[in-house]
Amino acid sequence: MRKPIIAGNWKMNNTIEQTNDLIKEILEIELSGDVETVLCVPYTSIQAAIELTRETGIKIGAQNLHWEKKGAYTGEISSVMLKELGTEYVIIGHSERRQYFCETDETVNMKLKAALNDGLIPIVCVGETLGQREDGIHLTLVKDQIVKAFKDIGSKDAEKTVVAYEPIWAIGTGKTATSEQANEMCGLIRKTLESLYDKGTSSVIRVQYGGSVKPDNIKELMSMEHIDGALVGGASLKASDFGRLINYKTEEANV
Ligand code: 13P
Repeated sequence: MRKPIIAGNWKMNNTIEQTNDLIKEILEIELSGDVETVLCVPYTSIQAAIELTRETGIKIGAQNLHWEKKGAYTGEISSVMLKELGTEYVIIGHSERRQYFCETDETVNMKLKAALNDGLIPIVCVGETLGQREDGIHLTLVKDQIVKAFKDIGSKDAEKTVVAYEPIWAIGTGKTATSEQANEMCGLIRKTLESLYDKGTSSVIRVQYGGSVKPDNIKELMSMEHIDGALVGGASLKASDFGRLINYKTEEANV
């Protein structure tokens, strides 16, 4: 049984002061214990977020890391540094990093290995552009992203990894993939992992959907066979919305 995982990706939002305020608001909400809850905050907010969420069940993640442990990489942060702070999760290969910071499937693979070596739980992002979907190459493309991301990674490490399917056309646009589209791709991701490893391994890897997930569409998305969670941008910046996402099981479906 895969435990659902809802992760907020704050992106480049919230100062330390705003982090304190938002997390205090989230902590006032009674959050479901059946759902793993993660907040991926800016580097500068990690320490404050960890202190505030200690023993609350909420885990803290970063949004990126470098693949080397240390060295002449101005402006970068390593897994060792993140672990020292107590960070538990790290997003790898988000489409915004691929688009604006030239990340490739190869660097995603190196970062994935670094995170796993140092005991961070990676959330690896894959997904197609609208043009790629319209050209009908989205399934092949995402399959290829998975194969390259997991190159030379053993099954025990793969099992610890979370994959997030984030169609780029659905990010921050208010345009969610239909639950069928999201489930089709998450199922293909699982099938690809099965072909790389085996059924046992692929059946424990959690696959999230991300892209305009909101309180009114989470329940339907989470009802799909291959969707084990959500990676949430905009709606994670508002405590009441984020609380409703975590508590989706008791949320009224707005259909
Ligand atoms: P939105 O939920 O704002 O569409 O962002 C999705 C995302 O990029 C999460 O990583």
